[in-house]
This record gives sequence, C-alpha cells and structure tokens, in this order.
Amino acid sequence: MAQWPERGPVLIAPSILSAEFARLGQQVREAESAGADVIHIDVMDGHFVPNIPIGPWVVRALRPITRLPLDVHLMIEQPERFLDAFAAAGADSITVHVETCPHLYRTLQQIRELGCRAAVTLNPATPLVMIEPVLEEVDMVLVMSVNPGFGGQKLIPAMLDKVRTLRALIDGRGLDCLIEIDGGGNRATVGDIVRAGTDVLVMGSAIFGAKEGIAKAIAYYRGVIQENRPA
Ligand code: DX5
Ligand code: ZN
Repeated sequence: MAQWPERGPVLIAPSILSAEFARLGQQVREAESAGADVIHIDVMDGHFVPNIPIGPWVVRALRPITRLPLDVHLMIEQPERFLDAFAAAGADSITVHVETCPHLYRTLQQIRELGCRAAVTLNPATPLVMIEPVLEEVDMVLVMSVNPGFGGQKLIPAMLDKVRTLRALIDGRGLDCLIEIDGGGNRATVGDIVRAGTDVLVMGSAIFGAKEGIAKAIAYYRGVIQENRPA
C-alpha cells in the first residue's frame, strides 16, 4: 500500500492509458521522478466501454515499480466481481461507475473493507444527483470529462460546471472528499479545470504523449496549477 498524498495543492495523476506499453515500468518511473503524485490506471472490459487495455496483472506488475499510489478506475460491468483481485494486486484507490453499480453502497463498503480508498464516478450525461446519496461514503468523486473508453478526446465544457457544482456541494456539507477530473486535460484546458475546483487532475495524452517528454510536461502543468490555484 502506498500513502495517498496529503490534501493541498492539486495532485497530478498521469493515466498510463497513453503510455508506451512496451516501456511501461520505465515511463511510470519517469513520471514519479518528475513529481507525479498518483498513477491512474484505466481498466475496461469491452462491454461498459468499447476498449480492453489493462487488467489486474498490470497493477500487480507496477506495484513494486513505484511508491506512488495506484488509482484504479474501473470502467467495467459488475465491478464487484473484481474488487478482490485489484486490491490484492496493489490498488490503493478503486473507482467504480455509478452506472454499473445497482448496489452502490455495498460496493463502496466492499472497497473500504479491502483496505482501499473508495471512489465513485459518473459518465458525462449522468447527473450529480445520482451520486449525492453516497458523498459521505467516498474518499473521492471522479468527474468524467469525456466519454469513457479512450485517451486523447476533447473535454466536454459542461463538465466544468459539474465540477463547480460538486465543489459547492462537498464544501457545503464539510466533507473530506476529493474531486478528480478525467479526460481532455491539456494546455488549453488545465487552467479552467483547476479554477473550477478540481483536487486531482488525471491526464493521459498530455503527459505520456507530450512531444517535450514526460518530465517537462509534468513541470509545465505544475506551473499552471500554481498560477491558477496557489497552494
Ligand atoms: C478515458 C480514461 C482516461 C484517459 C484520459 O476513459 O478514463 O483516464 O486516459 O486520457 P486523456 O487525458 O488523453 O484525455
Ligand atoms: Zn480514467
């Protein structure tokens, strides 16, 4: 188990979906040395979303490679069937989609019982009201800012309003729950994303696909965060 970073400045969570898979360990180490806070791992099943990139084995392989927390985002149907496998593989945080969990309370409790941080996420078209009842039960809410399934898509601007509304809701209730945003973060959008009240910034193509390299990309986004939401 890795220690989740203290609340404070916006955390940077590179998504390995856009990494070079033949050199995955090396790229994750590079991201860690460059100051990444969390490693985001996208798990898909070809049913809930039309793609199949990664399973628990990759989480297990990465666990000894990095000291950073592994943030596992499950875009799969019936995620409750795989929670044990991901926890045993070394996940620190597990995020499930509200759309896949008819018994969301139970699933979130299961995640916590396995010793992981519990998080819930919702597709762009799913309204916040769907996750309001469980806000007290989660360590993090992930706002999907693109349709889940692929890296390199454009941020849906209305998702920034969703983050603002969620920020007000969480702060209004005095909850210790982080807001994470996933998809479409890049040079054009990160300033707005940070100002909207995000705590954890997931970025795939903008970091692992950056022409200037992983380290320079992370340093650049650290600067944007600092300018838009000074620690
Ligand atoms: C999409 C994934 C994201 C993806 C983001 O379904 O959940 O984590 O890697 O990629 P970018 O940052 O390229 O939009
Ligand atoms: Zn993700």
